[in-house]
Amino acid sequence: MSDRSTVRFVLDGELIELRDVDPTRTVLQFLREDLRRKGSKEGCAEGDCGACTVVVAELVGGDEVQFKAINSCIQFLPTLDGKELITVEGLASGDSLHPVQSAMVKNHGSQCGFCTPGFIMSMFALYETNPNPGRRDIDDALAGNLCRCTGYRPIVAAATEMYSMPAPASIDRSVLLKQIQDKSSLRIAHEGRRFLAPRDADELSALLQEFPDATVLAGGTDIGLWVTKQHRELETIIYTGRVAELLSIALTDTHIDIGAAVSLTDAVPSIVQLYPGLDEMFRRFASPPIRNAGTLGGNIANGSPIGDSMAALMVLDAQLVLRCGDAEREISLGEFYHDYMANDLQPCEFLLQVKVPKPSDIAVVRSHKWSKRFDQDISAVCTAYRLVLEGDTVASFRMACGGLAATVRRATNTEAAINGKPWNEATIQAACEALAVDFAPITDMRASADMRLRATQNLLRRFLAESVSENLETVYSYGR
Ligand SMILES: Cc1cc2nc3c(=O)[nH]c(=O)nc-3n(C[C@H](O)[C@H](O)[C@H](O)COP(=O)(O)OP(=O)(O)OC[C@H]3O[C@@H](n4cnc5c(N)ncnc54)[C@H](O)[C@@H]3O)c2cc1C
Ligand code: FES
Ligand code: FES
Repeated sequence: MSDRSTVRFVLDGELIELRDVDPTRTVLQFLREDLRRKGSKEGCAEGDCGACTVVVAELVGGDEVQFKAINSCIQFLPTLDGKELITVEGLASGDSLHPVQSAMVKNHGSQCGFCTPGFIMSMFALYETNPNPGRRDIDDALAGNLCRCTGYRPIVAAATEMYSMPAPASIDRSVLLKQIQDKSSLRIAHEGRRFLAPRDADELSALLQEFPDATVLAGGTDIGLWVTKQHRELETIIYTGRVAELLSIALTDTHIDIGAAVSLTDAVPSIVQLYPGLDEMFRRFASPPIRNAGTLGGNIANGSPIGDSMAALMVLDAQLVLRCGDAEREISLGEFYHDYMANDLQPCEFLLQVKVPKPSDIAVVRSHKWSKRFDQDISAVCTAYRLVLEGDTVASFRMACGGLAATVRRATNTEAAINGKPWNEATIQAACEALAVDFAPITDMRASADMRLRATQNLLRRFLAESVSENLETVYSYGR
């Protein structure tokens, strides 16, 4: 199959084919500046406020259409290839509002209206994906949308009532989507910059050898901000979102093998099903639009010291499969980071897969995220623990922390203070002292050094309290 240089997607029931696309033009710039379609708003240009939320529909497994809310302000336009873009202008049918819109009007869910199109699109995604959401599902679905004046009560009421409004005419989105599926690779060149979207790992590998300085783009929820906030020019982008091997999740006898380009939304259920104690951390990881675009591989490769997934994956002893040319190698996540934002990836190398071990014994696994807000906030501290008890004695204890050092890393002195000891308050008290040996955190706008350390000590105490007050086997562990 030959390469293609045009970007093809569906908008308002029509096929759009764009030539000479700027690789880092955002979907929001395309909508507002090129199409003068200004329903989607720009509040922050960094994925935080939700004013720019749109929905992307994709074909999965042949006929099924999957709907995902995303932040158009940080999504690069070429990544829409093969998908349908749905914006707030496309929901009403003639004079008939979509049920989401009718419910919002009826419940007075909008005052200044700036946030409203974004809320409508997050609610539309919920409407299409969950026919019977509970209050927590609604709160979660709206976690990426900020409203400064109406307040959330009427908006939540609208999200509850939208299901009892007359249903909209059904639309078969798969027909047009099927017309724009092909196996060709994208190769876009624009004013000396490139956007390359290979279809398999061999091609990705060859491209990285040809362009070792290229930026590997997955969901773009970190990289998007390099462009919108830091105004960086990215000369060559290699996009992983169409690479078959990077998009699969496989369950082996021993591991869950998660492709590096699998979105957090798709990857998380397979992990949380085996480790329910990680549910809250992943629920509080950013917001649905960020999790719909962002990937587990991107979180790990980006390697921020306040990244949320790594502490949990470290205590589980996750392995990374890296590839350069035809050669693959495995490295433990615990050995992957060298220093602040520096890791073991070589210039030609990319992350192929994250191998998460399945539970093999009665281990309690849990993660705590400590931040100023419950939803859509970056951690000041993120901790994770894996505990195996024999009677009242600790047979094995691992702990990893983010937000306390230049990289997320294991708390080795703390682990030594707990391993082989009785699992009780005296042991935890000694471990809290060891935590102060393990880490010398810094002060920044999220928390002072002292607060960080004391919060982490208290989170460890909380883990002891949680572990003795709950039925460990059924709540957190699927072992044996
Ligand atoms: C509003 C907002 C909220 C956020 N909240 C959180 C949060 O709560 N917790 C948290 O941890 N993070 C958060 N993030 C950060 C971000 O969403 C995550 O780090 C996400 O997992 C990044 O994944 P991505 O696919 O978008 O990565 P990208 O932006 O595409 O890439 C990130 C980095 O990884 C590299 N990379 C990606 N894939 C590969 C690969 N296969 N091989 C080699 N290198 C690769 C890229 O080159 C780049 O250096 C937030 C971001 C935003 C904008
Ligand atoms: S403009 Fe704020 S999330 Fe996009
Ligand atoms: S209605 Fe004004 S910000 Fe929500």
